[in-house]
Amino acid sequence: PMPTLQRKGGELHLEEVALSAIAEEFGTPTYVYSLAALKAAYGAYRDALGGHRAMVCYAVKANSSLAILSVFARLGAGFDIVSGGELARVLAAGGDPARVVFSGVGKSAAEMRQALDAGIRCFNVESAAELERLAAIAAAMGKVAPIALRVNPDVDPKTHPYISTGLRSNKFGVAFDEAAALYRRAATLPSLRVAGIGCHIGSQLLDGAPVVEAAAKVLDLVDRLAAEGIALDHIDLGGGLGIRYRDEQPPAVAAYLAPLLALFAGRGEELLLEPGRSLVGNAGLLLTRVEYLKPGAEKNFAVVDAAMNDLARPALYDAWHEVVEVGAGSGERARYEVVGPICESGDFLAHDRALAVAAGDLLAILSAGAYGMTMSSNYNTRPRAAEVLIDGARIHLARARERVEALYAGEAALP
Ligand code: LLP
Repeated sequence: PMPTLQRKGGELHLEEVALSAIAEEFGTPTYVYSLAALKAAYGAYRDALGGHRAMVCYAVKANSSLAILSVFARLGAGFDIVSGGELARVLAAGGDPARVVFSGVGKSAAEMRQALDAGIRCFNVESAAELERLAAIAAAMGKVAPIALRVNPDVDPKTHPYISTGLRSNKFGVAFDEAAALYRRAATLPSLRVAGIGCHIGSQLLDGAPVVEAAAKVLDLVDRLAAEGIALDHIDLGGGLGIRYRDEQPPAVAAYLAPLLALFAGRGEELLLEPGRSLVGNAGLLLTRVEYLKPGAEKNFAVVDAAMNDLARPALYDAWHEVVEVGAGSGERARYEVVGPICESGDFLAHDRALAVAAGDLLAILSAGAYGMTMSSNYNTRPRAAEVLIDGARIHLARARERVEALYAGEAALP
């Protein structure tokens, strides 16, 4: 599934760099990303959007490494953020605040002030209460806040229930039937500028049809608002395009966007997109070393030095990530549970995989560029992994391995 991963002379390489060299220099576990894969993924969106009035706002939550943010900033991307912390990262990486949209159901007053000070492009407002809070804060600051309502189009994205967000039963967005009234209210508030509308129906979508259905509903609402004199300048269709982890067949970016662009034909609004996973997921892997093999009567275990704190997706969603030997493979192929050192039965990275491994061997856990490092934790007081960005034969240390002392630096034992 990863475009820039290749085996050369029996050795797994990301672009021109042998993964064993990364392990040698930086240790394990380490996230390794490919610049060429990031550029190709972003380029697919840019190419498909062609001459349309459009902006790709990378969903920072998928991977908020400054190195990766700086890549997208240089490529001219915008950003979709969900916290003041993500805004700070975008700015630190050289991102343009005028290209930032701010999503999320629970924006704090401090986050609103921070974003107004920075001068972001738009707040994606998710409730009436948030609208009132934002209006009051902007008024007190003598500013005008640009807003879009994130509406909930109530379509079924047909993905994992934990990551589907556009159903009426979800906590996200303003109910479709209540949106028009809320726009009317917003239009009366001088500290708000009604700028656009947004929706996001879910993640790891393998079928573009539900997004087209949502977009059609949204466009219909936009036209009804325009008839009332409430004109919107942009329409944000969120993120969600899935990637191949195993044998999934997500539409190519161009095929996914074609019916959406057709809906936009002849319209003046700018199209905004908020892709995360499809920009970074298959640009990164997690490099880990086998600590022990534990053969058993029922199951064989390969205990590796990465764990659920490094990559939570298998434990959290039962997600499937391909696991491959970095070297040529050792000994006979057998079936293994690939597990981490954490004291929980849920600490697994992969079930029942055929691997030819010995203790000390390196494994690569693929398609880990999205929602890998950003969902990592320090459970079991495990320092977070290092991150490395590969560019051809060049190696950039994007994040040094966390030091244990840093984990409790802000703590105080009782005197
Ligand atoms: N925009 C909004 C408002 C979102 O909530 C999300 C993701 C995105 C954009 C980006 O969606 P993407 O293009 O990455 O599908 N942790 C889960 C995924 C959670 C997605 C949450 N929202 C996972 O590891 O699968």
